[in-house]
Amino acid sequence: MTAPQTVLGLETSCDETAAAVVRRHADGRAEVLSSIVGSQIAAHAPYGGVVPEIAARAHVETIEAIAEAALAEAGMGYGDLTGVAATAGPGLVGGVMVGLSFGKAVALARGLPLVAVNHLEGHAVSARLGAEIAYPFLLLLVSGGHCQLLEVAGVGACRRLGSTIDDAAGEAFDKIAKAMGLPYPGGPALEALAEGGDPANFTLPRMLLGRKDCDFSFSGLKTAAARLAEGVTEPQARRDLAACVQAAIATQLAEKSDRAMQAYALDHAGQGLRFVVAGGVAANRAVRTRLQDVAAARGFSFAAPPLAYCTDNAAMIALAGAERLALGMSDPLDAVARPRWPLDAVAAAASPTHTPGRKGAKA
Ligand code: KG4
Ligand code: ZN
Repeated sequence: MTAPQTVLGLETSCDETAAAVVRRHADGRAEVLSSIVGSQIAAHAPYGGVVPEIAARAHVETIEAIAEAALAEAGMGYGDLTGVAATAGPGLVGGVMVGLSFGKAVALARGLPLVAVNHLEGHAVSARLGAEIAYPFLLLLVSGGHCQLLEVAGVGACRRLGSTIDDAAGEAFDKIAKAMGLPYPGGPALEALAEGGDPANFTLPRMLLGRKDCDFSFSGLKTAAARLAEGVTEPQARRDLAACVQAAIATQLAEKSDRAMQAYALDHAGQGLRFVVAGGVAANRAVRTRLQDVAAARGFSFAAPPLAYCTDNAAMIALAGAERLALGMSDPLDAVARPRWPLDAVAAAASPTHTPGRKGAKA
């Protein structure tokens, strides 16, 4: 038993400016006291994707008001907090710096401990905002920037079993949706269009399914679907294509998760087998259903975050911070923003804080 933690979470790593107050009770139960997500979708929509400079400026303009709104909704002031948790990466570094600097200012002014949270650790704990899930568990983290399978042994203890060798699944949803003329962000729009579509009406490539590893690839699917989209204009055919794309992505996620479950089950014989899916794509019903079926067939329990905590939010960042604070872990006020920051401890140690190159956080 540890003392309860009441943590202000801040999330600014992409196109959402978010703040939340989460209380982690002494028994480990998480209670979301407030969660506010200020979306910048309208600002980026004309460009069909997130423009980093626009995102960073918008975070600067709104972070203080959103943090104060989160405190007001929780019925408290800065003085009621026991800690501050801010995303410190990976992500668009201009935005990350805004939230992290704001968090440092609150921590300094109020004498509170700061936790510089890995955004992916936030996603990893997000399902715990809706249900109590014990460690260890097998995690499929599937969002706009990431697609990986991880063994999560405890707070900050992750081992990567597989990841995408090119695009993330959410990125595939977004780019194919854009090629089909759907609005940004593409995932939810494509899911809506897929309703009433026949997922067997087009043939799309089945990427890497013959390989025995747990890695993903979506670039071939993206190219094939974008090429098909050019000639598909009839409304029912568009619904069919959307349903095919969604099914192809769900199939790959399910088959690689199935493979990871087999490996995980061998390593955890005699223990409770738990499978968790998190990240924006976990909001997709077809994906959830496929994963739920695979988990049931392999004897794993299945958990996904409540829908509001699948896509980026600050409640998951606050909880990740609270879990660390409960273990006596915090970070110095000179903690740096990290554009790239693998969750896997071995990979993180091998990756310097700042690295040049084109490959972003998804790697
Ligand atoms: O977790 P998230 O908000 O941001 C990252 O950390 O990347 O995930 C956003 C991604 C986007 O690519 C979006 O299109 C996708 O999640 N997404 C969905 C759905 N809702 C969000 N993809 C498919 N179906 C959905 N319902
Ligand atoms: Zn995210």
